[in-house]
Amino acid sequence: MKILVTGGAGYIGSHTVVELQQQGFDVIIIDNLSNSRASVIGRIAAITGITPEFHRFDLTNRDACRTFFETHPDLGGIIHFAAFKAVGESMSTPLKYYRNNLDSLMNILEGMKESGCRNLVFSSSCTVYGQPDELPVKETSPVKEAWSPYGNTKQMSEQIIRFSAKAHNLSSIALRYFNPIGAHESALIGELPLGVPNNLVPFITQTAIGIRKELSVFGDDYNTPDGTAIRDYIHVTDLAKAHVTAINRLIRKTSEQSFEVFNLGTGHGYSVMEAIKSFESVSGRSLNYKICGRRPGDVEKVWADTSYANRELGWKAEKTLDEMMASAWKWELALSENNELH
Ligand code: UFG
Repeated sequence: MKILVTGGAGYIGSHTVVELQQQGFDVIIIDNLSNSRASVIGRIAAITGITPEFHRFDLTNRDACRTFFETHPDLGGIIHFAAFKAVGESMSTPLKYYRNNLDSLMNILEGMKESGCRNLVFSSSCTVYGQPDELPVKETSPVKEAWSPYGNTKQMSEQIIRFSAKAHNLSSIALRYFNPIGAHESALIGELPLGVPNNLVPFITQTAIGIRKELSVFGDDYNTPDGTAIRDYIHVTDLAKAHVTAINRLIRKTSEQSFEVFNLGTGHGYSVMEAIKSFESVSGRSLNYKICGRRPGDVEKVWADTSYANRELGWKAEKTLDEMMASAWKWELALSENNELH
């Protein structure tokens, strides 16, 4: 069965392509390479032995999208990752985010409406919850006013999918990720941040390898046991496997609902300091860091209630924080020995 993966050359997309291929799916990638490298396609093939069909174009291009769907009438499902994802950048260029993230989604939904493809898995985020009133956060927790245009595009996308799926007889699942980190065990694919990383783990590994001078810990005055902010970090391979489970659920018509939402996390929250300690213990390196002020827009603490995803999807995240950090470090070491991806 053919599965289209948009953004399949990106961080979570590439790991999902690998898992899909290893489960016997025939994968087609659309990616404009705006935040990824063409060489990732070859690296996917090096892991699985299969080169995915690859189309390079921008999904906001309506004509290109239409042509793609006309020439691919036999898609079994779509996993839609392609989107801009930098929270800070979205604050200064909101329209760029709305245009890109919403136009591309609507072009895909239109393509699905016209073609026979009925199944859509969407890449959403726990950012839709803002700072939840109750922890762990459940899927039924209220979606709070967005803290960033990026987060707002995720909220709006979920609603666009919910209404479109109902009207056009589609089946859809939005997966709300907590904090994806780590890399494939082969160290052939992983996260490739452009420029200075925004996210904690690539900043940690780049500091340890000497690309960055020191890590800034954003805030130690939060209402948490050690004062630093708490997140639910999940290994990217665990996350990728959940996408295969979700697309199988749609294909097998396990649920009658046209739109479902699942949290993808481990259910455990770790503080920034705990993440640093874990990294130091698995890498054997001591990390140069300093405590700074809070980063504007950061929530204090968030972690997932995963019981619904565990029960309904029959999926559970398996990797520990130490395993996640070890794989992120292995990836950084592999990158430092190979300039092809920089
Ligand atoms: N942090 C630091 N120093 C850094 C980078 C991050 O202390 O250099 C801290 C942050 O303040 C936060 C934690 O590490 O407390 C995690 O930060 P990340 O930037 O790695 O992740 P966020 O939780 O801010 O963001 C992630 C995704 C977003 C998504 C958001 C939803 O990257 O796409 O979760 O909460 F919107």
